[in-house]
Amino acid sequence: MADYDFDVLFIGAGPGGYVGAIRAAQLGLRTACVESRATLGGTCLNVGCIPSKAMLHASEFFDAAANGTMAKMGVEVTPKLNLPAMHAQRIDAVDQLTKGIAFLFKKNKVTWLNGHASFVDAHTVKVGDATHTAKEIVIATGSSVTPLPGVEVDNAKGVVVDSTGGLELPAVPKTMVVIGGGVIGLELGSVWRRLGAEVTVVEYLDLLLPGMDGDIRKEAAKIFAKQGMKLRLSTKVTGCTVKGKKATLTLEPAAGGEAETLTADCVLVSIGRKPNTDGLNLEAIGLEPNKRGQIEVDGEFRTSVEGVRAIGDVVPGPMLAHKAEDEGIAVAEWIAGEIGIVNHGVIPSVVYTWPEMAGVGLTEEQAREKGEVNVGKFPMAANSRAKTNHEPDGFVKVIADAATDRVLGVWCIASVAGTMIAEAALGMEFGATSEDIAYTCHAHPTHAEAVKEAAMAVRGKPIHM
Ligand code: FAD
Ligand code: NAI
Repeated sequence: MADYDFDVLFIGAGPGGYVGAIRAAQLGLRTACVESRATLGGTCLNVGCIPSKAMLHASEFFDAAANGTMAKMGVEVTPKLNLPAMHAQRIDAVDQLTKGIAFLFKKNKVTWLNGHASFVDAHTVKVGDATHTAKEIVIATGSSVTPLPGVEVDNAKGVVVDSTGGLELPAVPKTMVVIGGGVIGLELGSVWRRLGAEVTVVEYLDLLLPGMDGDIRKEAAKIFAKQGMKLRLSTKVTGCTVKGKKATLTLEPAAGGEAETLTADCVLVSIGRKPNTDGLNLEAIGLEPNKRGQIEVDGEFRTSVEGVRAIGDVVPGPMLAHKAEDEGIAVAEWIAGEIGIVNHGVIPSVVYTWPEMAGVGLTEEQAREKGEVNVGKFPMAANSRAKTNHEPDGFVKVIADAATDRVLGVWCIASVAGTMIAEAALGMEFGATSEDIAYTCHAHPTHAEAVKEAAMAVRGKPIHM
């Protein structure tokens, strides 16, 4: 057998690569992870999940003070924004967490190779001037921002920015246009709206948040409009010019029609992300991405090239950190000769706005396409904890198979929907029926009781409605 430097080498140290590398090392494999960034943790820790949540969390407090929510509870304060301090706590969170991964690499004896990796052959990569060999190589290179033709991003200038620039604006823009009413647009748009920007969201489709349940998408539009975001749905951006500190966008109805212009101090481009395969020299191993630029894999994350596997944002499926992490664990287990399972039918997704929006499994539309369903819905306004906390917006919806009662999907809008969806995922993983959830004792008073009530509503028998 050939003598390799490592048993397994991961390319990319995002949630896919770093988690996979740690699991591989835990399983006794000689493991390396190549990362071109100066810090570990990938998009998620450096410029994604973590810094965006740091800004969302902090701006939520500011908003609660500014919009009268705190006064309603007898706490009268006039908030004063210290934006440098808000950025400092974001930078500190990133710094601590990325260093934490470096510590875990050391502890687990994962070799971190700092540099850009490209294939020499299926068992060899080049990093700088050195080459490294491994029995198995896992591509975990993640994704990057999809550019919009005609709208040039310049994060340094801060007028037309992508999500990375949108996290770091040095001042609150007076006016901001968000191109794309998806997850990033609504999360970062919310941050700057809360801090005082007048935000307009331009979305190509007739509803926000494609991929989520139809009721969530309709309710989301109402909630964001109520919070003061201007929504321009069924509208496309056809061009952008920047003069000094102002951008002027040309808009048109998505179906075509008369053009108009919109001027803003800041434009955030958030129309999706694309898999990172450029610069890997995939030609050297004869691996060709599919039409969407993704690397196709089988159930064991094997590509069409022997010895090369792929996980995370670079392969088909939702571009989510926890999906990448679970694939990282599973691929390491396959490589170590164990069985690694990821149930791609039960991957929760959460939009961390106020309130949060979350779902797992099939949307009602998808479930109805497959067969007969029963649906139970319960409003957060009837949940005692949400009501007491002045959080009346939202609902929980449980979708169950009409014949078997098995839960097919759960969707919710609630202040803590991201936390509530975990029980739905766990239930679905164990094949729960709506009755199982309805008869599970939930602590009172909690937002989670709304999940139980929505499950009871599947049989038409909620108590508090
Ligand atoms: P990545 O995290 O993208 O990591 C890949 C790494 O590979 C990068 O560090 C890159 O530098 C490195 N790399 C690429 N090519 C090479 C090479 N040739 N050689 C060496 N290194 C290379 N997801 C959630 O689940 N929850 C959230 O709240 C959330 N918030 C987000 C907010 C924002 C603003 C953004 C942009 C994304 C967010 N995401 C969120 C998505 C999440 O960040 C990704 O799904 C996740 O990071 C994907 O993990 P990954 O390991 O596949 O790739
Ligand atoms: P997205 O796919 O969520 O949303 C992009 C939106 O832009 C869609 O609504 C789409 O219809 C619209 N769009 C596309 N082209 C357009 C155009 N020319 N004009 C107007 N609208 C246009 O992509 P986004 O928000 O950039 O996020 C990328 C990915 O990052 C997400 O899909 C998600 O996987 C991940 N992410 C996850 C988060 C979370 O889990 N909370 C937070 C942020 C990102």
